[in-house]
Amino acid sequence: MRATPFDGKFLGEEPYFKLEPTGMLVEFAAEHCGHGRYALDVGCGNGRNACVLASAGYVAVGVDISPTALRVARRIAPNALFVRSDVISLPFRDRIFAVAFCGTVLSCLDESGLARAIIELSRVTMPGGYFLLTDFSVDDPGASGPDASDASECSPFLKHYFEPTELQKILAGFSIERMWKVRKLDDTHGPTHTHVLVRLVARRNTGDRRQPNTAIA
Ligand SMILES: C[S@@+](CC[C@H](N)C(=O)[O-])C[C@H]1O[C@@H](n2cnc3c(N)ncnc32)[C@H](O)[C@@H]1O
Repeated sequence: MRATPFDGKFLGEEPYFKLEPTGMLVEFAAEHCGHGRYALDVGCGNGRNACVLASAGYVAVGVDISPTALRVARRIAPNALFVRSDVISLPFRDRIFAVAFCGTVLSCLDESGLARAIIELSRVTMPGGYFLLTDFSVDDPGASGPDASDASECSPFLKHYFEPTELQKILAGFSIERMWKVRKLDDTHGPTHTHVLVRLVARRNTGDRRQPNTAIA
């Protein structure tokens, strides 16, 4: 399994990623108790968001391709479980997760990876389960190229920027309840720069009558 360019960015005296969790997930967790159901944080990085899901009563499972990220995450979120995996091939049963959260991970994928990731996320999310996404918008300065003024340091790693109409199309197996954009100043690494993110809350459609695949890889 390949690592990502983010690999080296989780350690050091000034780690690249902050520990404060993502606001939309904090708000979601405050309103949706886990009651022991499974929640997935894909591309979990340092575990800041898996920690929130676990504290809300979910069995939180963080997945990342980076072994370094997972080492940090196990320390930051001892209340969550962590698995090394690529989002394009998740080692979980069909329909097991009541919540699947993707925080700026799908933007790391190329077109074919993105298509495969959506298939996997659709497969593992239970009917009626929540899908939450925050990722870079086509309005993000980095979308104009890594040398654009105000592009962040991580823009050379990103392969995709999202627009709402595209998300509506690729998330055909979900009903989008809410989609919005946020503009944020990021002063957590390098020179202060701007990000524009698209965020959404969706529910997995219930019409899928296939029997769950009970094999665990
Ligand atoms: C920008 S970071 C975001 C981390 C975390 N979601 C957060 O909000 O702090 C992107 C993360 O996605 C992970 N990643 C990139 N490609 C991945 C893939 N194909 N499968 C799983 N994780 C991946 C990276 O290792 C990194 O931890």
